[in-house]
Amino acid sequence: MSPHRTRGARYEVTGGNTLRGSVGVSGSKNAALAAMCAALLTEEDVLLENVPSISDVESLGQLLTSLGAVVEQTAVHSLRINASSVNRFEAPPSLVTENRASFQVMGPLLTRFGFAASVPPGGDVIGQRPIDVHLSGFEAMGAKVDRVEDLYEVRACEGGRLRGARVFMDYPTVSGTQNVLMAATLAEGKTTIVNAATEPEVQSLARMLNKMGAQVSGIGTQMLTVEGVESLGGATHTVVPDRIEAGTYAIAAVITGGDVEIRDAPVEVMDAIFTKLAAAGATIDVGTDSFRISAEAGINATSFQALPYPGLPTDLHAPMAALLTQARGVSIIHERVFDNRMLYVGELRKMGAEIVSTGTSAIVSGPTPLHGTRVRALDVRAGAAVLLAALAAPGRTEIEEVYHLDRGYERLESKLRGLGADVTRVG
Ligand code: EPU
Repeated sequence: MSPHRTRGARYEVTGGNTLRGSVGVSGSKNAALAAMCAALLTEEDVLLENVPSISDVESLGQLLTSLGAVVEQTAVHSLRINASSVNRFEAPPSLVTENRASFQVMGPLLTRFGFAASVPPGGDVIGQRPIDVHLSGFEAMGAKVDRVEDLYEVRACEGGRLRGARVFMDYPTVSGTQNVLMAATLAEGKTTIVNAATEPEVQSLARMLNKMGAQVSGIGTQMLTVEGVESLGGATHTVVPDRIEAGTYAIAAVITGGDVEIRDAPVEVMDAIFTKLAAAGATIDVGTDSFRISAEAGINATSFQALPYPGLPTDLHAPMAALLTQARGVSIIHERVFDNRMLYVGELRKMGAEIVSTGTSAIVSGPTPLHGTRVRALDVRAGAAVLLAALAAPGRTEIEEVYHLDRGYERLESKLRGLGADVTRVG
């Protein structure tokens, strides 16, 4: 789906331009990926609208195809998925390791076919990212998990159908909640998921499942209840807008002292982002599905913790840190979700930032003049952080490995150029 995919591509950014104008937000990466996996739960067509044109969607589409599903792009942002002829229950390792969301095929395959197998998922190197909570959820529903070398083989016992259970999530994991939720839809009887993740992407999945005929209640709370049904049907579902992309453009506006309208934004789930950006000195005017943000009077130091929803999202930790390099004073950051989110620190330091990190915390002193240099996008959000810093750094920054950004941001350079940034993709 995405137009450019070269591994060797890089960005050349000449910083210092003030961003102005209006930019639209695409569909949420993580909501779209979960919705694509949910299509495996039914033989009928699932139509997904507002699907972002990003490489993670493309690689998950390839994975579904390799299982025997039909994945058809019916328009730029629309997919038709039909999983009536799925005949393979083991996700190909090369595709699973590309994309963390790929492990979410497990719940749907297991509950519909009684068997699923996968190697551990890939994705960004932002922490240990275990899958124990997913697996213990499946086990609570009567599944048996075998580890055969690198492969997890999961079987539903008792006639091939999972049974409803009370499942406690040791951590409110987003993809773990989504996996167990999907598995519970076709289980026999009632499942209660205690300490469920409440992220908007989980809520969106639950609403989609209900459109398919599932009986999920407690949506948006930490206790989800699912009455299992015999089968699910097709549905049309619109992917929610990407709150992380919206937050990234908001930060781009603030870090360049600009004034930007951000359209099609999920403003109702962005309280933490708005609160922190306002504390940093931004002026934010929130509408029903858009907001305008400007920061013409400089940026103030602002400390934050990255937390599960509704706290400040971990996916905006690195972009916020880039912003705080330009703030007056000392900001303290605590990462409470992942144990290895600090990859961006070394790259920002190459650009002149004064950041020290220890464990899952960082201290940013500012404002420090940044300068253009050669840096790497080490994961999708660390990549966003160096790009944001590059927008504020006079001179030219070369960002290598921008394929990480392609995983999660649709038409990133053209959207930024539309706001007046000088960003060119090379290669
Ligand atoms: N965890 C466990 N056991 C598990 C699963 C997770 O201990 O079985 C722990 C992890 O180690 C981590 C914490 O739970 O410390 C949170 O991980 P979670 O499972 O919630 O994250 P995820 O589902 O792997 C999704 C998004 C991430 C986003 C996080 C948190 C997808 C495909 N990915 O990951 O998105 O950061 O939730 O909101 O939905 C991104 O978009 O850049 C990205 C990394």
